[in-house]
Amino acid sequence: MSILDKLEEISKEGQKEVSSASSLEGLEAARVSFLGKKGKITVILKSLGDLSLEDRPAIGKKANEVRRSIENTISKRKEELESKALEQKLEEEVIDITLPGRCFFTGKKHLITQIVDEITDTFIGLGYRVAEGPEVETEYYNFDALNTPADHPARSLMDTLYTQKDGVLLRTHTSPVQIRIMEKTLPPVYIIAPGKAYRRDVPDPSHSPMFHQVEGLAVDKNITFGDLKGTLEVFAKKMFGADRKIRLRPHFFPFTEPSAEVDVSCIMCDGKGCRVCSGVGWLEILGAGMVDPNVLSGVGYDPEEVSGFAFGMGVERIAMLKYGVNDIRLFFENDMRFLAQF
Ligand code: DAH
Repeated sequence: MSILDKLEEISKEGQKEVSSASSLEGLEAARVSFLGKKGKITVILKSLGDLSLEDRPAIGKKANEVRRSIENTISKRKEELESKALEQKLEEEVIDITLPGRCFFTGKKHLITQIVDEITDTFIGLGYRVAEGPEVETEYYNFDALNTPADHPARSLMDTLYTQKDGVLLRTHTSPVQIRIMEKTLPPVYIIAPGKAYRRDVPDPSHSPMFHQVEGLAVDKNITFGDLKGTLEVFAKKMFGADRKIRLRPHFFPFTEPSAEVDVSCIMCDGKGCRVCSGVGWLEILGAGMVDPNVLSGVGYDPEEVSGFAFGMGVERIAMLKYGVNDIRLFFENDMRFLAQF
């Protein structure tokens, strides 16, 4: 067979192999076998020097033609295979935007923390600052300094959790923070103190041995009972709605004189009487009063110079009223189905 015939055969064979390559790898293999260093066409091109001068131009021309045409076919096939591969990739990666998205769970503040924040914000808006005190307290701050000496009947009203150390207890209310702040601050004092309190109570729908309170204290020149009432009214409207009214009922607390329990008009029936307010039309939300002169002089203030009011509220109670929660234990059981609602 002449070299020209052989070239013709290689050409056909090459065209066929290249155009039928079904993958980029297969195409590369075909390229190597015809145009690679030891490829069928390369071998012929390399051997041109051995040919007679007569044969060389025709065979050289033909060999180069075959090479070029195979190169062309390779690049065409390569384009085809590449676009096919791309199509396939796009098809595999197609995103169905009609499918529902995945829901990511994001954490948020516990309802009690939200309520504390809300109360705090309201009083910060009125010029108060936030104060803190220890949860493990001494009898002195929890009782004595709050005008509640050991033989005072009010002490037995609170079921106190004592530690093994004499005179050290878990605070039964946030009121001791009042004393701690006044001891180290000169009037005027405007503070609120949110925090945990503890009592020896068996858990039931309205009792929890640990609960939260927010304490408030304002001491300044000429503070009156009217200031207390106005302040609490602003708070109640902010917390429970602009239509709410408040009512003060005479009460007793050792550290305030006079003292009052404060009710808000029922958020369900607006005072008409319903199941939530047991038909009374009012809901008790906090205790308050004018700071007892004994308490003021105990921290070195002059009761002739300054006067003050104080109040204390249970955060869980406020949350329960505001959201219609009927069992305080729900706040501490950490059932996400309950907590996630708020
Ligand atoms: N400490 C009281 C309690 O836990 C609540 C209270 C009542 C706080 C009157 C006060 C107040 O500051 O003036 O029941």
